Amino acid sequence: MIVGIPKEIMPGEARVAATPETVKKFILDGMTVLVEAGAGVKSHYYDEQYSEAGAEMVDDVSRLFERADLILKVKEPLFNENVGKHEVEMMHPGQYLITFIHPASPVNHNMVKQLAARGVTGLTLDSIPRISRAQNMDALTSMSTCAGYKGIIMAADDLLVFMPQMFTAVGMLKPANVLVIGAGVAGLQALATAKRLGAVTYAMDIRPAANEQAKSLGARIIETGVPEELAVGQGGYAQKLPEEWLAKEREVLAGVLKDMDIVFCSALIPGKVAPILITDKMVESMKNGAVIVDISIDQGGNCEVTPAGKKEIIHNVMVQGIKNIPGLIPTSSTWMFSQNVYNLVKYLSKDGKIELNMNDEIVRSILVTHQGEIVHEGTKEAMGI
Ligand code: NAI
Repeated sequence: MIVGIPKEIMPGEARVAATPETVKKFILDGMTVLVEAGAGVKSHYYDEQYSEAGAEMVDDVSRLFERADLILKVKEPLFNENVGKHEVEMMHPGQYLITFIHPASPVNHNMVKQLAARGVTGLTLDSIPRISRAQNMDALTSMSTCAGYKGIIMAADDLLVFMPQMFTAVGMLKPANVLVIGAGVAGLQALATAKRLGAVTYAMDIRPAANEQAKSLGARIIETGVPEELAVGQGGYAQKLPEEWLAKEREVLAGVLKDMDIVFCSALIPGKVAPILITDKMVESMKNGAVIVDISIDQGGNCEVTPAGKKEIIHNVMVQGIKNIPGLIPTSSTWMFSQNVYNLVKYLSKDGKIELNMNDEIVRSILVTHQGEIVHEGTKEAMGI
């Protein structure tokens, strides 16, 4: 099987789908690997290293798409300005694509239809089920880990005071207070990072299990008062709360926000719009110089005034809505992503070729397009099919 690794073309995207290390593993598994020249430069994986690992470097990306049986990418297929063609147009029937397709997102519906029409088998990383045997393939979890860590570093960088308590010759400076709303994968990593930097950490989640984990990382818990049977649904996932409970949660938050230096927002129900937990008025009540990092911005954000894709000072509070945070730590995020993708390919392959077992939960969850059809339930629902 020939595996193709094109350079990512989304503006600002520094990651790439394979490292020299995973190239070597693919080759040991009997595959041929084509890497577009310069694909790893922005994440500091260089052409010579890929060549040394056994990859064939390709200058012409159209040739790479033509020759590969499997394309591995980080972002969904996009229009390639340099070639003057959409990446889907460079694909062929029977070819496999593994990437974050984000197929349910309305902006991608047309692209997904094109993928199906071309006969491409598209497998999306955003639908890997969060089950134990899929953990080492779960790129979404890896990327949330990156966002939790880097998001706190970004907040600390914008903070105008020290994070840790400081004893100096001129007196003592208090440690910063950090509140994490939504202690899932990203939130727990944010709590751990803030704690390591010396902050006093607080967590708020509607799932008791998440609060337990936050507590074990040294965080003080802000109780929301939301009953467990309302908060937790099937499989232990959080459920969408009725508006009256969100209002109660906002009330609790309003009482604590004035004491916080950093508020890290990562509350989300998978597949839904992020709940609004901080209003404009609540931002106004915060300390001058405080920082909000709202990483749920792709789903609309947890704060109603978060500017999408940038940061802005609002009521003397720095509010960050930076997107693609894992891309800001590209050497590590690429390393994690590439390992996840390698594990997935290995899982799906038999004798060096992809063989999809349609009875397998992982395959059924991630399959978006197959044999000319759109088969992904969430996507069909979003498209009204
Ligand atoms: P997750 O599903 O592991 O965690 C979300 C947490 O929010 C859960 O623990 C859930 O119980 C909690 N939650 C839900 N409703 C709540 C409410 N009303 N109040 C308090 N807590 C509530 O999700 P994960 O992987 O940690 O991702 C979190 C967010 O970070 C998502 O919006 C995701 O898209 C985003 N993200 C953003 C990145 C970026 O670059 N901006 C990169 C990676 C993730």
